[in-house]
Amino acid sequence: MESKSLNRGLSAAKAAKQDEFYTQYVDIQKEVEAYLEFDPDTFRGKIVYCNCDDPFESHFFKYFAANFNKLGLKKLITTSYDGSPIAGQLALFPEYDEGNGKRQRPKAMAVILDQVKDEDGDGAANVTDVELFLQRNQAARIALKGNDKYPGGDFRSPECIALLKQADIVVTNPPFSLFREYVAQLVEHGKKFLIIGPKNAITYKEFFPLIKDTKLWLGTGFANGNAYFSIPAGSGREYSDGVYDESTGLVKFRNVGWFTNLDHGRRHEELPLMTMADNLRFSKHKEIKGKAAYDRYDNYDAIEVPFTDAIPSDYDGAMGVPITFLDKYNPDQFEILGITKTWHGGASKTYPMQTQVNKDGKESLVSKLNDGPAIKVNEPPTGQTYYRVGTDNFIQLYARILIRRRTRPAGGTEK
Ligand SMILES: C[S@@+](CC[C@H](N)C(=O)[O-])C[C@H]1O[C@@H](n2cnc3c(N)ncnc32)[C@H](O)[C@@H]1O
Repeated sequence: MESKSLNRGLSAAKAAKQDEFYTQYVDIQKEVEAYLEFDPDTFRGKIVYCNCDDPFESHFFKYFAANFNKLGLKKLITTSYDGSPIAGQLALFPEYDEGNGKRQRPKAMAVILDQVKDEDGDGAANVTDVELFLQRNQAARIALKGNDKYPGGDFRSPECIALLKQADIVVTNPPFSLFREYVAQLVEHGKKFLIIGPKNAITYKEFFPLIKDTKLWLGTGFANGNAYFSIPAGSGREYSDGVYDESTGLVKFRNVGWFTNLDHGRRHEELPLMTMADNLRFSKHKEIKGKAAYDRYDNYDAIEVPFTDAIPSDYDGAMGVPITFLDKYNPDQFEILGITKTWHGGASKTYPMQTQVNKDGKESLVSKLNDGPAIKVNEPPTGQTYYRVGTDNFIQLYARILIRRRTRPAGGTEK
């Protein structure tokens, strides 16, 4: 028991450490600009809240403070977390070190800007002016105390929830270890948001229904899911080989994306596709070219489309496509029907079931809920994972999103 809870404690500490990576200014700028290109007034008159951000360390704060007037913001609220190990600004505000110099880490605080003016009289309003403004206006910075349950600056703490309620748009890169909870809170409060998160969240049972119902979609940045972040000095060795690059000081994460409910242009671009007949004759993919027909699932009425660019333009039935399809998803062109993934229980009642292939290569979508639980087995020596249900063995295929071509635009009339 003791070692179990010790393990839990250690993995929580590990998860917390792994949450410490910081977004680059240029990535925020590129992403925000994609929304401005679609609608220059996306942020105009809005209260933006960065709720996992140390002011003056976070580039989210820096970006929105520096572009406060250009974006036409009404207010910028930033709250930092008591426990964040980054501490570059101890000297800036006395509240940060509690006046005794003992505290190693910055205390949680909220910084609230409702204007950015040329404080230093150099003819421009920029981040230096923001620093001056904050030094001159103590009311714009508030120490956050938290409560019995949450430390100061925790996005779940009552103080932060009160600030969230004021906000129109939440923009940040939150701790991935709390991503489910983080998103659930935004949805519960009906907020607009633009956040960074792990792409594997797409298949979470709490998350996928939001995508299916177009309440949330992918943003535009981080081509192919490759994203680079800075980390606290000296923590490079905590990352496995090939993740941390000493020369740049950045870690490279695969499979990270922007998630949002703000509109942008790419989701209104039509994905150019070939007909089914042309795909079967000319596809660049050997898995499609020369076949008589697309493969079908055994017990779900859909064709298997292993590549997004192999989606036939003229097929009206259901199609199973890779998750990366979502990077190109235009809700006027396709509707999402479900996902081929069980969550070992309830969700498969709502969404189509897991695609599996048995050890002879026979594919099927399997509903074994009534036949007893699927037992996960790792096959030595390959280490391949498969599932045993009764006497049958099933290898898990990649998850597929099930889609159907819209014959009429979302909310529009029949073509
Ligand atoms: C992935 S980092 C990103 C930091 C910053 N938003 C950025 O993009 O540069 C997540 C941050 O959330 C902070 N954090 C961890 N748990 C938190 C919580 N419960 N509430 C608020 N912030 C938290 C961490 O200390 C960390 O600085």
